[in-house]
Formats: sequence, structure tokens, C-alpha cells
Amino acid sequence: MPTPEPLPPWRPLLRSAREREGRSPQARWLQLASAAADGTPRVRTLVFRGWSGSTALDLLTDGRSAKPTELARQPATELCWLLPRARSQFRLRGSLLTLPPELERRERERHWQMLSPGGRALWGWPPPGEPFDREAAFPEQLPDGSPLPAHFLLLRIALAQVELLELTGHPHRRRRWREQTGWQEEPLNP
Ligand SMILES: Cc1cc2nc3c(=O)[nH]c(=O)nc-3n(C[C@H](O)[C@H](O)[C@H](O)COP(=O)(O)O)c2cc1C
Repeated sequence: MPTPEPLPPWRPLLRSAREREGRSPQARWLQLASAAADGTPRVRTLVFRGWSGSTALDLLTDGRSAKPTELARQPATELCWLLPRARSQFRLRGSLLTLPPELERRERERHWQMLSPGGRALWGWPPPGEPFDREAAFPEQLPDGSPLPAHFLLLRIALAQVELLELTGHPHRRRRWREQTGWQEEPLNP
């Protein structure tokens, strides 16, 4: 068994801020930015699906939506994760990883199987962002054992910089960690 990589110092801070949210689904919602083909910004909410190692995280999306194409063109991204109970904002900078095909297939399959039938159903809907088709089927569930759709995509984001702003005290507290400096904590003015 390979020894697990040590966790960078922001990981326990993020975990305790998430724990403050209790069982709220909001603790897993974050915003993902991308650049459209014309260079203008796009941002949307996604569900955090787990860590991959100590500094990469997994998101799931529909390959027929805009973001996978935007990230393929410009893999650099920033995620914003607001944890209101902890009055904390994490800004995570990184880039989309291209996984070896075998690993990618395995990881997509693993995530697909972990989803509930209701969670999976969205990938059985017609293409996102196209004009609404009232005749189309929008299943409420895709049962266990449903085949993995080609448009079920894993976005694995490798993080290179994390910034945390906490509004809990006076003055507010702002810190940054960068991979290039060994994730050493850098205090910043808020
Ligand atoms: C609370 C919440 C969670 C969402 N989770 C996801 C998700 O995990 N994956 C996803 O692709 N879209 C998710 N969406 C929908 C996206 O925000 C977005 O509308 C959709 O993916 C289309 O984005 P795009 O056209 O920019 O690609 C979620 C939306 C909300 C409001």
C-alpha cells in the first residue's frame, strides 16, 4: 500500500468549515468558473463529489453541457466554496486534469455506481441548455445497473492555490496557500 500523501494545512480547515454546516446539502455546493470561447466568464454551481488524493477534487457533469468544452479549451479554473455557518469563503484555483483513458473509465464507473437512482436520472434527460421539449422523457430515476452514458463526465480538478477568507472575528482573516511554496500559510490583509 502506498503511504498516503500528507494533507495540506487548508484541508482540515475546509473540513471543519464543512462540518459546521451539519447535514445540509449546501455543504457540498461550490461554484465553478470557466471561460467561454469568446473569452467571457461563466460560473455555475456543482456538487462536490469527493477528494482524489490530497489536492484534487472530483465533480460530475453532463458532456453535452457547455462547461466540459470550455474547460477543455482553457483548463484553468477557480472554484468558490462558501460555507455560511463558518462565515468562510474558500477560493480554490487549479486546472482540469486529463486522466489516462483506463483510469478515467474506471473512475467514471465508480462515481456512476455510487449515485442514487434519483441522482443518476439527470443523465437520462435530454441535452441540457437546448430548447425545452415537452414531448421528451425526463426520468425520475435510473436504476442501479443502468449502463454508463457516454455523456457522464468526471471533472477532476487539481488544485494549486487555496485562499480562505473568514469573517468570524475582527479584523477578518485572510490566508493563502500555494503548492509552489509547499502549501506554506501566507497571511494576507482581508
Ligand atoms: C445546487 C445545484 C447543484 C448542481 N450540481 C451540479 C452538478 O453536480 N453537476 C452539473 O453538471 N451541474 C450541476 N448543477 C447545474 C449547473 O449549475 C448548471 O446549471 C448546468 O451544469 C449547466 O451548466 P453549463 O451550461 O454552464 O455547462 C447544479 C445546480 C444547482 C443549483
